[in-house]
Amino acid sequence: MTANHHSSERLGIEAARISDSSFVFKLRYSDSVRCFFEDKTIPHYSSHTKFFQKHHHEYTVARLYTSDTTKSIGFCRMKCVGLVSDLRLIEPSIMVSKEARGRGVARELLGSAEWELKKNGFPCIVCAKALHDNLASIRLFESNGYKRIESNQARVWLIKAIGTVASNRD
Ligand SMILES: CC(C)(COP(=O)(O)OP(=O)(O)OC[C@H]1O[C@@H](n2cnc3c(N)ncnc32)[C@H](O)[C@@H]1OP(=O)(O)O)[C@@H](O)C(=O)NCCC(=O)NCCS
Repeated sequence: MTANHHSSERLGIEAARISDSSFVFKLRYSDSVRCFFEDKTIPHYSSHTKFFQKHHHEYTVARLYTSDTTKSIGFCRMKCVGLVSDLRLIEPSIMVSKEARGRGVARELLGSAEWELKKNGFPCIVCAKALHDNLASIRLFESNGYKRIESNQARVWLIKAIGTVASNRD
């Protein structure tokens, strides 16, 4: 892992477990994340849990391991939202706890989630959407090879091909 953590800490990225439901709920609906989403509604915890149990295999979670504790600090979900000819269209969702930001955690998470997509063997187009003033998110995607395809006053759209013939040549 390349993230710059204190020497006693180790960053781990792994598949989510059903028991991560509560962590994902708290982070997804925390003020420091919700402010970057257009839909500000908070679902009932029971409906979130039901959804998470069904889809938890789509999530990767970042955890910080120290000698005496393990703390979950971020997650990424790559959601398949459709097919464009033979390409899967994937919408990423990524977030890191406020206190763990700016240390490369999202970069590690995104790389790991993309690797999982690649391993599945289906060519994909990952299409990220960020609010115009979400500089951290835009920078995250751009510095990981995503290209802006469209923007308006409110949003920016960025895409990256994964597992396609063109992306394999990069
Ligand atoms: C976007 C988010 C996931 C980034 O997490 P992070 O762990 O702090 O990001 P990283 O430390 O891996 O940094 C990734 C890149 O973004 C840049 N970056 C991080 N915070 C930034 C900020 N506030 N402003 C500008 N650039 C920033 C970093 O310098 C880095 O770029 P580099 O690789 O060229 O150096 C985090 O800010 C977050 O959870 N935001 C709320 C949820 C959200 O907006 N999710 C995205 C919705 S699509």
